[in-house]
Amino acid sequence: MKILVTGGAGFIGSNFIFYELAKHPEDSIICVDLLTYAGNLETLESVMSSPAFKFIKADIADQKAIYTIFESEKPDIIVNFAAESHVDRSIENPALFLTTNVIGTQVLLDACRIFGIDRFHQVSTDEVYGDLPLDSLDLLFTEETPIHTSSPYSASKASADLLTLAYSRTFKVPVSISRCSNNYGPYQFPEKLIPLMIANALNDKQLPVYGKGENVRDWLYVEDHCSAIDLIIRHGKEGEIYNVGGHNERTNLEVVQTIIQELGRGRIEFVKDRAGHDLRYAIDSSKIQHDLGWLPSTAFDEGIQMTIRWYLDNKAWWQRILSGEYQKYYERMYVNR
Ligand SMILES: NC(=O)c1ccc[n+]([C@@H]2O[C@H](COP(=O)([O-])OP(=O)(O)OC[C@H]3O[C@@H](n4cnc5c(N)ncnc54)[C@H](O)[C@@H]3O)[C@@H](O)[C@H]2O)c1
Repeated sequence: MKILVTGGAGFIGSNFIFYELAKHPEDSIICVDLLTYAGNLETLESVMSSPAFKFIKADIADQKAIYTIFESEKPDIIVNFAAESHVDRSIENPALFLTTNVIGTQVLLDACRIFGIDRFHQVSTDEVYGDLPLDSLDLLFTEETPIHTSSPYSASKASADLLTLAYSRTFKVPVSISRCSNNYGPYQFPEKLIPLMIANALNDKQLPVYGKGENVRDWLYVEDHCSAIDLIIRHGKEGEIYNVGGHNERTNLEVVQTIIQELGRGRIEFVKDRAGHDLRYAIDSSKIQHDLGWLPSTAFDEGIQMTIRWYLDNKAWWQRILSGEYQKYYERMYVNR
């Protein structure tokens, strides 16, 4: 089977590529990524020379480029990770989020419709459900929870989900969608909460926490997200949405305090809250557990230790990102030779 992974030079996409190549050596993977600020080809270095892997630099919103790739590569399955993914950046520049997350998804869906595929899987987020109150811990998002978005990021992801379902109904494109909670683990760009706090603590910088740090997120170790998507694309039902979550709810403050404790260093600085900041996310993932037998295998206490260890052992990876040096890698390796 040939799997086309978009956004595979980013955090979750790269972890998914490693997971698939290890679990299904009989399959091959084509990674399509525009290498925006969030894409880092160095992350994929270990698989670049594998005969089962191929990298193509392209924009998912570029119809001509995408159709050419579908025509020449003839992929069986598409897993769409490519997106602008940072809520704060969506507040600064909503238009870019609509171009990549909505138009990009539409271009991919049209390519699927025209060239034919076995499955288009849209990697979505629990943020499409909006937020839950802090004082009703029994409330969880199910697949039936209405879409109720808060940020330009979540609105663009919800739009992409609706388009995906529309292409299923109108054009009979075989689709599936996963809506996952917050991921953490190796290769996460150091602008997101956990790697930012680790990097700042190690660089003796303050650890900025929004508001009072009361916002609650449900954390899932990235490999558990990868195993869920792997199950859905192979055994999930066409046209279905699957929630994916870890039942690891923590306030942002608790997460940051755990990092400080593990590292033995770091000073918190409370900063002005994010506009429209969602209070609490919590996922009911009983559908994927019952229907596909998925279970997360890494508890938060173990996963956060593995993640901190990874950032300690791979300082060069994130330091090159912080210095901007990583963006020259593609030119050095592939253009100026
Ligand atoms: N990080 C999380 O906690 C989380 C949780 C649930 C869902 N998601 C979703 O998972 C997906 C991946 O998230 P991530 O955290 O790995 O993001 P990321 O920002 O680390 O990676 C995004 C990747 O997409 C690429 N990209 C961006 N625009 C592109 C374009 N126009 N064409 C081709 N490639 C492009 C980037 O270069 C980058 O490699 C996203 O769709 C996101 O919405 C993320």
